[in-house]
Amino acid sequence: MTPYPHLFASGRIGKLVSRNRIKYAATETNFPYADGFVSDREIAYMEAQARGGAGIVTTQGAYPDRKGEGKGFRGMMSIAEDRFIPGLSRIAEVIGQHGALSALQILHCGREGGVDLDYCLMPSVVPQRLSYFKPPRELTVPQIQQAIEDHVQAARRAVEAGFDMIELSGIVGYLISTFVSRYTTSEATNSAVKRSGNAAVS
Ligand SMILES: Cc1cc2nc3c(=O)[nH]c(=O)nc-3n(C[C@H](O)[C@H](O)[C@H](O)COP(=O)(O)O)c2cc1C
Repeated sequence: MTPYPHLFASGRIGKLVSRNRIKYAATETNFPYADGFVSDREIAYMEAQARGGAGIVTTQGAYPDRKGEGKGFRGMMSIAEDRFIPGLSRIAEVIGQHGALSALQILHCGREGGVDLDYCLMPSVVPQRLSYFKPPRELTVPQIQQAIEDHVQAARRAVEAGFDMIELSGIVGYLISTFVSRYTTSEATNSAVKRSGNAAVS
């Protein structure tokens, strides 16, 4: 007997039906152009994943802010402005054409971000252990509120681009995870955010 008897059975998530239980995970390719626009090569790569038969195909993480503080890879895709929507909708379209559900990942790289800048953003200034990451600056409460708004607008753009799903990445030192980890979140930041009435840190 196969250890995964339901792998090729269709599955339901809310109103969405996936043709199987296989999800192609988000993967940075460096194929988008350096200015954040999707390239033909990226579209072809995404199409190949959908043609391969996965039920859900996820885009690489797209950074949501205009300054590029969330940008953690030189060739990373952007969803920070409406002008990126047409390229992103080409990805949603080719994935859908091959019968897969399309998921767009929003990814603010936080502690590993600011790849084109001389700093990165964190809830608290915790020295980097890896020298190629940028020196951290502590987020102010207005900057946290801006980051939340950036995520909201990114989600709106993903819907407008025609994606079936939105995935929020909060792993390995990226912005969301640095709010969850005690190592990267000082008590001072916690109480400042709580005073502002914001639930970003709990
Ligand atoms: C080249 C590369 C790029 C990746 N880019 C992302 C990404 O943009 N967002 C993300 O959440 N995970 C990213 N990951 C992590 C993968 O989605 C996946 O979770 C990880 O590789 C573990 O799965 P695996 O054991 O099948 O490789 C990346 C991994 C690799 C190898």
